[in-house]
Amino acid sequence: MESLRKLSIISFLAIGLGFGFTFFIASTTADQKEKHTAPLAAEPGTALYYAYECEAELGPLPHFSCLDCIEIPITQNGVQVTEDVDWCDNPAIFGDPCQVGNRVGRVEGMHENGDPRPEVSFLMFCRDGGIGVIGHNSETGATCFFSIKEGGVNAYGFIPGPRDPGYDDAWQTPQVVSDDHCVSCHMADPFLHTPWIDQVKDPKNPSETLVPMTGSLASPYFVVGDEFYQPAVGKLQRNECTRCHRGQCSSMFNGNLEDLYIPGSFWEDHYDQTMAEDLEALKAWCHSLDLPSHF
Ligand code: HEC
Ligand code: HEC
Repeated sequence: MESLRKLSIISFLAIGLGFGFTFFIASTTADQKEKHTAPLAAEPGTALYYAYECEAELGPLPHFSCLDCIEIPITQNGVQVTEDVDWCDNPAIFGDPCQVGNRVGRVEGMHENGDPRPEVSFLMFCRDGGIGVIGHNSETGATCFFSIKEGGVNAYGFIPGPRDPGYDDAWQTPQVVSDDHCVSCHMADPFLHTPWIDQVKDPKNPSETLVPMTGSLASPYFVVGDEFYQPAVGKLQRNECTRCHRGQCSSMFNGNLEDLYIPGSFWEDHYDQTMAEDLEALKAWCHSLDLPSHF
């Protein structure tokens, strides 16, 4: 009798604990959900608030670091150089065209439970001591732009994510990022392809470029965050240059659209004399958009 009572007390305790535990789990998942759908834990306008807005569209933000990126080679007649040079085989299309030491990296997105989410990619770009990141969901088109603060954390070290202390100290506010006009250059598609950056192949699939080929005429693309303007819309009528993808302007690039030797099986389609008129029409359209000029 005595032992039975003990047993029932123990089982009561066990049930009680079990219940408490489930309740605890239930309430944390609810909290997390709330964080992702209603980002109220941070002040609007802060980097952290923007991170939560982006997590609602892209899933949890991974950690970013230039340590996980691959150097983009600079070559002269096919031979890689180790110092900045004044000409190179595949110049970058903006900034210093033949600067060594820049890197690009890619991290796949994931769901909250850690399952892979192949439709989401984060691309990192390491230049001038900073790191810029673009996160894109190719199914919904949701896209986020991030950049760390100048003179803040080391881009080649540990950079805080939204669940670490110091996120707002490390990352620029969305307004500051937007003022850099990412969207005016990243126009036809969130991810830009140039002969320079496309030298870097995906280590998991070396026949493909590390920067994913996601752009088409139908590929959805919108930018998350009230601080950002949306990519220019408006189709050029019957224009060869917008047969396969949206219009891409080069007002802010070093070079001209027609000079870009785009790699891939479609490159032959890129420019020939038969497209001269369409290219002029595209340029006129770009001019009409009144994009900010190169800074
Ligand atoms: C002046 C035009 C311009 C502006 C402004 C610009 N980018 Fe880019 N970005 C490019 C080009 C062009 C490339 C491809 C590499 C190259 O040739 O320079 C690129 C590449 C990238 C990449 C590597 C993935 C890819 O698309 O190839 C990331 C990430 C990136 N930019 C982030 C940003 C962010 C974040 C901002 C805003 C803070 C920004 N960029 C502003 C032109 C620009
Ligand atoms: C036969 C299809 C096709 C035609 C026609 C075409 N393009 Fe493209 N172009 C592509 C594809 C595919 C990409 C890579 C898209 C991606 O994933 O971003 C691309 C990329 C580009 C890029 C690199 C920037 C970026 O958005 O990645 C530029 C600039 C560009 N095209 C300009 C032009 C111009 C100018 C014309 C007209 C003279 C033209 N294209 C006609 C298929 C085409």
